Amino acid sequence: MIKVGIIGGSGYTGGELIRLLLNHSQVEIDFVFSTTRAGKPVTSAHQDLLGQTNLLFSGEVNPKVDAVFLCLGHGNSTKFLDENTFAEHTKIVDLSNDFRLQASSNWNGKTFVYGLPELNKSKIENTDAIANPGCFATAIQLGLLPLAQAGLLKGEIHTNAITGSTGAGVGLSATSHFSWRNNNVSWYKPFTHQHLGEIGESLKSFGNPTGKQYFLPTRGNFTRGILATSYTRFDGDLEAAKSLFASFYADAAFTHVSEEPIHLKQVVNTNQCHIHLHQHEDVLLVTSTIDNLLKGASGQAVQNMNLMFGWDQREGLQLKAGVF
Ligand SMILES: NC(=O)c1ccc[n+]([C@@H]2O[C@H](COP(=O)([O-])OP(=O)(O)OC[C@H]3O[C@@H](n4cnc5c(N)ncnc54)[C@H](OP(=O)(O)O)[C@@H]3O)[C@@H](O)[C@H]2O)c1
Repeated sequence: MIKVGIIGGSGYTGGELIRLLLNHSQVEIDFVFSTTRAGKPVTSAHQDLLGQTNLLFSGEVNPKVDAVFLCLGHGNSTKFLDENTFAEHTKIVDLSNDFRLQASSNWNGKTFVYGLPELNKSKIENTDAIANPGCFATAIQLGLLPLAQAGLLKGEIHTNAITGSTGAGVGLSATSHFSWRNNNVSWYKPFTHQHLGEIGESLKSFGNPTGKQYFLPTRGNFTRGILATSYTRFDGDLEAAKSLFASFYADAAFTHVSEEPIHLKQVVNTNQCHIHLHQHEDVLLVTSTIDNLLKGASGQAVQNMNLMFGWDQREGLQLKAGVF
C-alpha cells in the first residue's frame, strides 16, 4: 500500500478523490489537508462518505507520502509547493492549470507531464509530476486527437461544449446560485476559454497543420458532466473516420467510440469518455462526453497515479453510470 495526501480536501475534486481512493486496493489516504476545516471529520464536508471513513481533515501535511494530489484553484498549487517541501520520492498530481502548458511545465527542477493518458501514456509512466488536464480540454481533445494525428484538422474547428455546475468548484458564485442556474442556460468566455491553450498544444504535438479553433463554452443547469460537439471540414467518408478513431483508441482503457448517438448520463459517475461520429455532406461532427469531476479531474488523476506506479489503469475506477 502507498500513502497519499490530498490538498484542498473540502472542494469538489478533493471530495471525489477521497471517494475513489477509499476504494482503491493499493492506496491508504494518509492525510486530507484543509485550510478551513482542520480537525473536523471529512464527512462534515463530504456527507456522502458517512460510514465509509473516520478520517479528520488535517492542518498539516506529511512530507513523506508516496503521492500528493493538489486540488487547488489556479495559482494556488505553485504557491503551495513553494511553501511546502515533499520528499524526493513523492509523486505529484496537480489538478490546476498551473503546469499544463509547456511554457509553465517546469517547476523547481521538475518537469510536469501533461496527464492525458490517451496522448502521453509512456511519458506518464516515467514521470513523478503530472499536470492533470482541464475538464473541457479532456472532452474536446479526446474528440479531436485522432483527426489531428492524421492531419485532418486543416480547416476551422468549431466546438460547443456544455458543462454542469460542479465544473466551477464548491464556492458559491452568481452563476452557480440555484435561483440563477436552475432552468437556465448561458454561454461564457466566447472563443477565449483558458483551455484553448492546452488543447492547441496537444493538437499541434503531432506536427501537422491545424486549423483555427472556435470554442463556445455553455453553462448547463445540471450538476455533473460535459457534452462537447466539434465539427470541421472532412473530405473522407464516415467509415474511414470510424476506423481512424477505433485504431487511435484501440488500447485506451476508458475512451470508447459508440455507434449510437451518445448522451451525458451514460458517462456521469464514471471515468469514461464516449465518442460518436456523424457526417453531413463535407462536415464531420464529433461528439464527446465525460464526467467533469472524473475523467475531467479526479478520475483521470487516479488513472495517472495508476500509470505512474505501474498498476492497471482501471484500478479503483471500475464505475458504473447511474443512467436512469
Ligand atoms: N470542478 C471540476 O470539474 C474541475 C475539473 C478539472 C479541473 N479542475 C481544477 O481542479 C482544481 C480544484 O477544483 P475544485 O472544483 O475542486 O475547486 P473547489 O471546489 O473550489 O475546491 C478547492 C479547495 O481548495 C482549498 N483552497 C482554497 N483556497 C486555498 C488556498 N489559497 N490555499 C490552499 N487551499 C485552498 C479549499 O479547500 P479547504 O477549505 O479544504 O482548504 C477549496 O475547497 C481547480 O484548479 C480546478 O480548475 C476542476
